[in-house]
Amino acid sequence: MTTKTLTLIPGDGIGPEISDAVTRILKAAGLQVNWDVTEGGEHSALAGRGVMPDATIDSIARNKIALKGPTTTPTGGGHQSANVTLRKRLDLYANVRPAKSLPGYRTKFDNVDLIIVRENTEDTYAGVEHMVAPNVAQCLKIITWEGSERVARYAFNMAKKLGRKRVTCVHKANIHKLSDGLFLKAHEAVAAEFPDIKFDSIIVDNLCMQLVTRPEEFDVLVLPNLYGDIVSDLCAGLVGGLGVAPGANIGQNGAVFEAVHGSAPDIAGQGKANPTALLLSAVMMLQHMGELAMAERIEKGLHKVLAEGKSLTRDLKGTAGTSEFADAIIHALNK
Ligand code: NAI
Repeated sequence: MTTKTLTLIPGDGIGPEISDAVTRILKAAGLQVNWDVTEGGEHSALAGRGVMPDATIDSIARNKIALKGPTTTPTGGGHQSANVTLRKRLDLYANVRPAKSLPGYRTKFDNVDLIIVRENTEDTYAGVEHMVAPNVAQCLKIITWEGSERVARYAFNMAKKLGRKRVTCVHKANIHKLSDGLFLKAHEAVAAEFPDIKFDSIIVDNLCMQLVTRPEEFDVLVLPNLYGDIVSDLCAGLVGGLGVAPGANIGQNGAVFEAVHGSAPDIAGQGKANPTALLLSAVMMLQHMGELAMAERIEKGLHKVLAEGKSLTRDLKGTAGTSEFADAIIHALNK
């Protein structure tokens, strides 16, 4: 069997430290891959090679799968965001963010296990915004059948692969009758192709109320871009915050798996960073590759270490460093 090659973008700040921890854990779990280590982010931009060099884009397009560390984006000027560049150049149309309760993270709820699928290219993020008069701004909400259908199909296929039982389309079609109405209709059409998965829909404001009272009732949620942006952060808050939230950006030309948090320049290079969010992103990557057993084994190992509470990083009120935490997970894999 030939060994698969995957793209690795260590990124900026704590990126290289957490990438190192995560690739060690993947290797210990038995993943046999060659990592094509590529550049991207501030370091690359400052060296004059661009925030997302062509060689990195080509590597992802070739290998189809990338694990990415966080990348720094300066505010108020400087280079473009590496993530926006990646999303545009590879047409990564689905942003996937699971929100799952973790042992050892005390939050209001301990039984959340849902996945948000956010349409990543349309809606008010299509970039059609202008001033129509000196004091009047207009932003167009673009929703297409093609864009809605492809994200719906991704959500249903993902639900099927992961054994999820229900997909809920989130919208505001009572007010945005044409745009959100089209999004909803496309989901109803795709749902008919998946009779084994329960399909329903909910208005976004009602969803928010339900999520903060009984989030355990939801399974897979699919949302247009703007609602998805807001609701995915709300859901991260239900299970411990952005620091432990994994994510993926998926398209026909590739899939990029990365933590939701940033490059944490305040602790970079100190060996203190928590690799949990990137590790959970790698678990999503394994699921995407069909390596379901390996994904489950790593997740269980992580849960054991979190529940034991002996080798936690400082953000979790522990004293362990990044590599000690990773070593504890590697040890837990074999217990
Ligand atoms: P941040 O998420 O990097 O840091 C916020 C706080 O959380 C800091 O105190 C940091 O030390 C802590 N933190 C974050 N990740 C941690 C981890 N794994 N372990 C322990 N502590 C952790 O957010 P901030 O400071 O707003 O952004 C820093 C840079 O990251 C910016 O340039 C921003 O543009 C970029 N960024 C990149 C993202 C990406 O590449 N996906 C996402 C979000 C921000």
